[in-house]
Formats: sequence, structure tokens, C-alpha cells
Amino acid sequence: MRVGILEYGDDRFVQDLMSKLPGSEFLKFSNVGIPVSREFDVVVDRLSFQNKFLNSVMKLYSLAGTYVINNPFAVACTDKALQIQLCKKLKIPFPNTIVLPSTDEVYDFSEVVGKAGFEFRYPAIMKPHDGYAWDDVYVVNSADEAGKIYRAVAGRKVLLLQERVEYQEYLRCFCVGRKTLFVKYDPKNRAYIKDDLKHLDHLKPQLEQWMLALNREIDFDINTIEWTVSGDEVFLIDAYNEVPDIVPEALPHDYYWWLVDTFAECVRSKENERNRVPTQSP
Ligand SMILES: Nc1ncnc2c1ncn2[C@@H]1O[C@H](COP(=O)(O)OP(=O)(O)O)[C@@H](O)[C@H]1O
Ligand SMILES: [Mg+2]
Repeated sequence: MRVGILEYGDDRFVQDLMSKLPGSEFLKFSNVGIPVSREFDVVVDRLSFQNKFLNSVMKLYSLAGTYVINNPFAVACTDKALQIQLCKKLKIPFPNTIVLPSTDEVYDFSEVVGKAGFEFRYPAIMKPHDGYAWDDVYVVNSADEAGKIYRAVAGRKVLLLQERVEYQEYLRCFCVGRKTLFVKYDPKNRAYIKDDLKHLDHLKPQLEQWMLALNREIDFDINTIEWTVSGDEVFLIDAYNEVPDIVPEALPHDYYWWLVDTFAECVRSKENERNRVPTQSP
């Protein structure tokens, strides 16, 4: 089995992953002749989401028969508006959300929120529909405040206005293949917390089923999914992260090694598989 890794050489997670996948090798490109042939059975791609050249090459690899993780065609399908639409389809609870146009025009928020088709309540979160790593995420307490942020950001980003959820606990769950790891997360300090979350055992089967469904919808093999939890009430906050950050210092030791081992097993299991492409129905 030939496994290629697309990541910088100093990434500790891929170094540990490669120690579990003997013979795996880093990919290096200068230019690429087309058509490409199938040289690798599986490629673990942790870079192409931020590089158009690499994303194009990963799509060629995928069409040539290499199983690319995550599916490079899926990167076009991860925006937060699409996540909300999928929640609706899969009957997953999500906070009331409005997609705002990208425009320089003066925009009356009371009017827009009035036309949403549901009652929208402040405080709210304003965030980019294709954001990651908390870039341009704001709390707004009124239509006025929403207008100010909108005028500052909407010229360069498509924004969502989403009701802010008050919660007791925040989860950032890791999904690898068909396995999930429930991890408690402290968003204020951006820190993972070791906790077996036994008190949430009654919610886990339903959350797990929803997470597997979200991953199946867009053909993701590795992902993190974020939830708020208050009593038995849960809301989905962030459904897709094509390249979860996996840093040994940031995670409890056993969680980290669970991720390394489970991902290595997932890579091995894909030797004879192909990615779905958007033209195929699931
Ligand atoms: N509707 C919301 N209610 C409460 N907190 C939220 C909401 N949306 C986002 N947040 C907070 O903002 C953080 C970043 O938002 P998120 O949707 O995860 O964007 P990103 O893709 O940048 O990680 C979340 O981890 C959460 O702490
Ligand atoms: Mg997030």
C-alpha cells in the first residue's frame, strides 16, 4: 500500500501518524503534468484547503483513483450556510440564522431580521459563512451593532447573523472514519479538557448519529464538530473542519494517541476505495 502525506515536515501529528504507516512518504510538487496517473493508494491531505494549486492537484489525484483524505471536492461544500441547510435536512437543532448579502449598501437590520420568517433574538453572533479559526467572529447586541459590524466586514466577506446560544458546556468532537471522540472544550481559553463526559452518555448516541450523517453528506473521513449543551438541549455550532488541528501539547495524552491510531487505521482501510465525487449520488 502506497500512502502519500501532504503536510509540512515539522507537523508532529503527521510524524506520529507516519510512524504507524511504514513506507508512507511526504508529497512534493513543483509542476504537474496532466493527466496524472494513480501513483498512490491513499493521500492524507492537510494543506490543499488553503492552496488552490494543491486543491486542483488533489482533485486530479482523486479522479485518477487515489483516495484523498478529506475528499478534495468536499472543500467546496463546507460553508456555514450549507451546514445549516443540512441541519434542517437531517433534523439537527441549530440556532436561528440569517445569511446576509455581501454588499456596500446601507442595510437596515431591523427590516432584514423582520423578514427572516422566524422571530430573531439578540444577542447574536456575526460570523463569516466560510470562516475558520474564529476569524471575524463578533457578538452583537442590537440591530445597530449588527449594522456597524456589517459595514466594516461585509465588503470582503459573506456574513451570517446567528442567535447566540447560552450554554453550560461546549463540545468539540473528533470524528475519524466511523468513530467519534467526545471532547469537552473551553472556547474562552480555547482549551481541550479531559473529562469522560459520563453525564452526557444519554445524549451521545443521538449526537454520534448526527455526526456520522454530517460526515456522510459531504464525504469527510476526519472532522471536528462543535456543539453547545445545556441540560438535554444541544445546538450545532460548527459542522465542518476539513483539517482538524491535532497538536500533542493541546490534547490529553490518551486522546492524542487515540487520534493517531484511529486515523492510521482509517487510512489503511481506504487502500481499495475511491472518493465520491459531487456528480455521484451517495
Ligand atoms: N451561535 C453561537 N452561539 C454561541 N457561541 C457561538 C455561536 N457561534 C459561534 N460561537 C462561538 O464562536 C466560536 C467560533 O465560531 P465557529 O462557528 O466555530 O467559527 P470558526 O469556523 O471560525 O471556528 C465558537 O467556538 C463559539 O465559541
Ligand atoms: Mg469552530
